[in-house]
Amino acid sequence: LFVNASEASARKIPETLFGIFFEEINHAGSGGLWAELVSNRGFEAGGQNTPSNIDPWTIIGDESLLVVSTDRSSCFDRNKVALRMEVLCNSTGTNICPPGGVGIYNPGFWGMNIEQGNTYKLVFYVRSLESINVSVSLTGSKGLQSLATANVIADDVSYWTKVELLLDAKGTDHSSRLQLTTTRKGTIWFDQVSMMPLDTYNGHGFRNGLFKMLADLKPAFIRFPGGCFVEGEWLRNAFRWKETIGPWEQRPGHFGDVWMYWTDDGLGYFEFLQLAEDLGALPIWVFNNGISHTDEVDTSSILPFVQEALDGIEFAIGDPDSTWGSVRAAMGHPEPFDLRYVAIGNEDCGKKNYRGNYLKFYDAIKRAYPDMKVISNCDGSNHQLDHPTDLYDYHVYKEANAVFSMAHNFDHVSRKGPKAFVSEYAVTGKDAGGGSLLAALAEAGFLIGLERNSDVVKMASYAPLFVNANDKRWNPDAIVFNSSQLYGTPSYWMQCFFVQSNGATLLNTTLQANSSSSLIASAITWQNSEDEKNYLRIKVVNFGSNTANLKISIDGLELNSIQSYGSTKTVLTSSNVMDENSFNEPNKVAPFKSLLEDAGKDMDVTLLAHSFTSFDLL
Ligand code: AHR
Repeated sequence: LFVNASEASARKIPETLFGIFFEEINHAGSGGLWAELVSNRGFEAGGQNTPSNIDPWTIIGDESLLVVSTDRSSCFDRNKVALRMEVLCNSTGTNICPPGGVGIYNPGFWGMNIEQGNTYKLVFYVRSLESINVSVSLTGSKGLQSLATANVIADDVSYWTKVELLLDAKGTDHSSRLQLTTTRKGTIWFDQVSMMPLDTYNGHGFRNGLFKMLADLKPAFIRFPGGCFVEGEWLRNAFRWKETIGPWEQRPGHFGDVWMYWTDDGLGYFEFLQLAEDLGALPIWVFNNGISHTDEVDTSSILPFVQEALDGIEFAIGDPDSTWGSVRAAMGHPEPFDLRYVAIGNEDCGKKNYRGNYLKFYDAIKRAYPDMKVISNCDGSNHQLDHPTDLYDYHVYKEANAVFSMAHNFDHVSRKGPKAFVSEYAVTGKDAGGGSLLAALAEAGFLIGLERNSDVVKMASYAPLFVNANDKRWNPDAIVFNSSQLYGTPSYWMQCFFVQSNGATLLNTTLQANSSSSLIASAITWQNSEDEKNYLRIKVVNFGSNTANLKISIDGLELNSIQSYGSTKTVLTSSNVMDENSFNEPNKVAPFKSLLEDAGKDMDVTLLAHSFTSFDLL
């Protein structure tokens, strides 16, 4: 492998090349990154018609003791459904309540993670024509072990009353539940029951461990909130940003009919923008363009959708005294967010109204926001597009060999015209298993190809990012979690090899090897902001099943000399190419770093079969 480190042949990689794509799929947000512990907090998930299904809320006590139903008596206009609990038993008299009382419990998203020493903020709205005495408790999954308790006693809650409590956990249980019980006869209504750990990232509601996994990728951008989630199976179930902002209690929530689950939209448009800011990533907002999987708005009727998108941009970047900027400011963020990119729809290019609708959005956005970069769904890699765009979206889901060979996909793409945004890529099918080493190696090869073609590929992100192991709607995914555990698949760890690439200098490399078809390499230099030292990173994927011996020669290096001291080698491999990580073995396939003792301008290195190696030279 020849690495030419002379400036003449070097090229800067875009600052934006590697980022992440967050979609509300697999309970990535609701029951995932968004730390809300109560599932179906507003009782709306069963639909607006009452009586409705209150799942996963469950009744404690039989029908001789209480009757639980739903009605439309909530004080919140956009989510009128409330829970009505008619308690028939009492602490005295003939029909005596059981000692623990009767009521309801919520198991969260397949169990709440309650941890000793942590504090949980519970908020709920209550109403009753009688005085109330409600016990609030966090218990083990069977309702037995008590982790935290409080009593809510009030004489007059004849109008809806907000109750706020802090619960300190005195025990740990990863599949806990929240109980609301009473031993007092009467009728009580509950609505908007929310519980969050006090300790979330920056107090912004993001589950710490999952947030850190994202931050460690140092993403240059975050594309959100989908994916198909943006489109909806039907337009009526698509993500509508205006329904997801403002006070959480007032958000209607919606049923995502592509991935088939309800979300309260606690993680709404504002929170996505906040997430991007917290990650130091540029937000890339994908909005619905009047097209779902099943129905489409005709171009002649698209203007309200165009206005909705313009309003969304104003919400993100408008002055705090503009119509929608003021709504953002009222939510606690007077400064504009750094929204510079929007995507008009997702995977809609071939659809009947795409081009017509697209042009309406494009023209209106460019007129109002000339600097806003617009992303088209149409692939511009093999022909000139028939509409103007700054970037075109490109999705890759294939088996491993195909993805590995796609390292050369952009080699011959026209260097003129819009740039590519590979906003979704992954090995899928049997090669991927639940997230295999094989998949990660093929993807690594593909990403090396993107680095080398980063004059025409401006952005790339893996998909999907997250999966709650209890609701796998798509396989594989980069980060797997349940209520308390998490791990990265090999594809997650593979991405960590690229975190220094954004804005780095790409060097010219030439690979001469017999087995060159199973090897691919790239080299970058960058200055580490922490120690201000210059680094050279050579990445090589050995996609083959044999060990490969490689001679690396580095030419034209301006570094004083390559030092053995501090130079390292990091390898991602495993004994079987189909190996995966799991909750039991989260690091079975994870990068292993060691000192590179014989670092130099000429090195003989051994690349293990089925491996990804990065040589970091100081
Ligand atoms: O990443 C999963 C899905 O794959 C996305 O929602 C969609 O854009 C693609 O088809």
